Amino acid sequence: MGLYIHIPFCMKKCNYCDFLSFVGVPQEQSDAYFQTLLQEIDYFSEDYRNIYYVDTVFIGGGTPSLIDSSYISKLMDAVRTGFEVDKNAEISIETNPKTVTKDKLKEYLNLGINRLSMGAQSCDDELLRYLGRVHTTDDFIKNYISARECGFKNINIDLIFGIPGQTLAVWKYTLNQVIGLCPEHISFYSLQLEEGTKFYSMLQKGTLTETDEKLDRSMYSYAIKLLSKSGYVHYEISNAAKNGYQCRHNLKYWSMEDYLGLGLGAHSFIEGTRFSNVISLEQYVNIGKEYKYKQKKMTDESISPFSCWQHHNTKEDNISDYLITVMRKTQGIQFDDFKNRFGIGLEQLYGNVLRKYQNQGLIEISADRVYFTEKGMDLANIFLAEFV
Ligand SMILES: C[S@@+](CC[C@H](N)C(=O)[O-])C[C@H]1O[C@@H](n2cnc3c(N)ncnc32)[C@H](O)[C@@H]1O
Ligand code: SF4
Repeated sequence: MGLYIHIPFCMKKCNYCDFLSFVGVPQEQSDAYFQTLLQEIDYFSEDYRNIYYVDTVFIGGGTPSLIDSSYISKLMDAVRTGFEVDKNAEISIETNPKTVTKDKLKEYLNLGINRLSMGAQSCDDELLRYLGRVHTTDDFIKNYISARECGFKNINIDLIFGIPGQTLAVWKYTLNQVIGLCPEHISFYSLQLEEGTKFYSMLQKGTLTETDEKLDRSMYSYAIKLLSKSGYVHYEISNAAKNGYQCRHNLKYWSMEDYLGLGLGAHSFIEGTRFSNVISLEQYVNIGKEYKYKQKKMTDESISPFSCWQHHNTKEDNISDYLITVMRKTQGIQFDDFKNRFGIGLEQLYGNVLRKYQNQGLIEISADRVYFTEKGMDLANIFLAEFV
């Protein structure tokens, strides 16, 4: 099982971001948050520690690197006490360059955290300011070097392209700078203008013009080509890694394997049931304070006291979830795997749909699998919408 732990705090809200995170939370409330997280770990560990072993942990956010590393230390202690953690587990933490120090990096390594994810986004300071980032390119490069000096051997860099005003030349410069640093993993996301963000309201007011679709796609296409030429395997729509460094945790999402999400708003998928936690910080903390969480155990019918929603997947739900998540991998869906899981052939179920998109050049069908073509990666949502 994979474990995701959400840390919903940031130094400043970026102009494009709709992730569940808060700025300026008083110490008292963040303390209470961590207290509740430990309770949630305790709640699940009783039921799960004898059934599952944890082979990936992902501490994400928000900005986990913003908080004092003593909190991460308590968290990792609780995880190791509560769950059976594999000795070769991949343990990742998300960081934002401005919030990282050498002391924190050393502490992470001491805690067994062996994968660092850095939100660089761009190597152009003007674009970084436009995105509302708190860091500069110099901060990012210094942090990256520090992480290597401290001994991190598995580093991911997050990048965003398709930013209004970004030219193809500026994107190429960022990619080349980052590839020059030789990180093991690079994520490259096309900017999404999400409701509720500063960028979204700028779009509504007409002070932001969306990047032209053709330019966005040529940035994507350039990234795939350059990354492949530079020794990275493009293994998921927005992710590339050196051989053997694919993110094992995220691969669980894209292979429809079990994962448990802990913390505010975290999602879980366990044995065909999806559930997600409350999204109000106050409510989450109150559950920890007031709820006799130990007395209410999760059975098939009940719901975790920290959750507000759950859904037991039907077989049809599982098939649809599988198609939508597994197709994101560039290797696509193996016919054998589909048949082993669902007892029926994919072609038998969706032969007509597959042929329609094969004729349109969006997917390729080989003897053993179906996968997106480059055109299909660009238009993935059109194909995936068939299965929602
Ligand atoms: C939780 S954040 C990463 C960690 C850290 N908070 C940071 O930003 O440095 C995950 C990543 O999602 C990407 N992201 C967030 N909002 C996005 C958006 N609206 N469009 C495209 N990518 C986005 C960014 O690349 C970001 O680094
Ligand atoms: S992109 Fe990262 S740092 Fe910026 S608001 Fe979102 S979670 Fe926080």
